[in-house]
Amino acid sequence: MSQLASPTASRVAVIGASGYGGLQTLRLLLDHPVLSATFLGGERSAGQRWSSICPFLPLPDDPLVQSADPDRIADAADFAILSLPNGVAARLATQLIERGVRVVDLSADFRYRSLDQWSKVYAQEAQTLNRSDAELCQNAVYGLPEWQGPAIAEASLVAAPGCFPTASLLPLLPFLKQGLIEIDGIIIDAKTGTSGGGRVPKEAMLLAEASESIAPYGVVGHRHTSEIEQMATEVAGQPVQLQFTPHLVPMVRGLLSTVYARLRDPGLTADDCTTVLNAVYRHHPCVSVLPVGTYPATKWARHTNKAQLSVQVDKRTGQLVLMSAIDNLIKGQAGQGVQCLNLMAGLKPETGLPLQSYYP
Ligand SMILES: NC(=O)c1ccc[n+]([C@@H]2O[C@H](COP(=O)([O-])OP(=O)(O)OC[C@H]3O[C@@H](n4cnc5c(N)ncnc54)[C@H](OP(=O)(O)O)[C@@H]3O)[C@@H](O)[C@H]2O)c1
Repeated sequence: MSQLASPTASRVAVIGASGYGGLQTLRLLLDHPVLSATFLGGERSAGQRWSSICPFLPLPDDPLVQSADPDRIADAADFAILSLPNGVAARLATQLIERGVRVVDLSADFRYRSLDQWSKVYAQEAQTLNRSDAELCQNAVYGLPEWQGPAIAEASLVAAPGCFPTASLLPLLPFLKQGLIEIDGIIIDAKTGTSGGGRVPKEAMLLAEASESIAPYGVVGHRHTSEIEQMATEVAGQPVQLQFTPHLVPMVRGLLSTVYARLRDPGLTADDCTTVLNAVYRHHPCVSVLPVGTYPATKWARHTNKAQLSVQVDKRTGQLVLMSAIDNLIKGQAGQGVQCLNLMAGLKPETGLPLQSYYP
């Protein structure tokens, strides 16, 4: 398990290197014992030396960022991690797979099994991108390693989940899988920091707008709702519809998701429910289940590839309360991408990933 599938399969192209996800990926690969970045791709940053873009993260030989030419990428790398805006990765992924490069896409372009569904949810992107890769969408593996490990290991194309879906699905899926909760009435209330919006300037992310304020956004119909529902439905074996409301909070990184669901057996205790999570995740080092009465904070997960989970039960109402904290840029994005690459390269999923807290 700790051996590479082939001794040369360790070269990774990072496309979108200058963005938040790209540069987190590069930092993780710098510390990785097997995988290394051999191609840096971008658009506006193409033609520039890495040191002029991110002088705070020196890379060996100060590489040039290049335009994302599929032939050049295929010459330089066995794997590509695409950290690109939604609607940009789809074409490049197809070209890379045709050239034998295995791809992990951090965007939403391949997260839906159905291209029609993607076109509905990402209607704006679908207008500019005339896609006909329905088969590729269907064959892409949803990259939640704790649930899809064997399929990820074999995949040519992995669609890494969004940050909110990652944090919300990890505590929720065990209860859906075992039929312990009602499938209607599930509510997800989640908070994220401003890095969730990427490095490209946006008005809502200005310090003057985001600081000293907490605000909901995308209320009813946020794009991640249908992504969460898709995976929840697959695991529950019946259609799941839920309520999801994200909030922007004045911090740079971190994501906290609180999930509410009704227990089918109101006699279940917080200890019982913690046992459920422990049974599912005890062999998964990127998930930590906290003892009853200990609730996760985003600070505990910062800079780590670990999801911190906790459970409480309200005996009066039979309500299950699931809490989950992750670093949106690591377990919610780049770290999870590298976790998928590890599996694809025949390595242990946690290889080279930071799991210890950097608290405070
Ligand atoms: N931020 C999060 O918490 C988070 C979590 C999970 C998933 N995601 C998803 O991950 C993806 C990347 O997010 P991010 O936050 O890292 O975005 P970002 O900081 O805005 O970075 C986007 C990158 O894409 C590059 N790019 C844009 N158009 C390109 C093109 N046509 N060809 C090549 N490169 C191009 C940019 O490079 P140039 O500057 O060179 O143009 C930049 O490096 C998004 O799909 C996002 O939804 C983000």
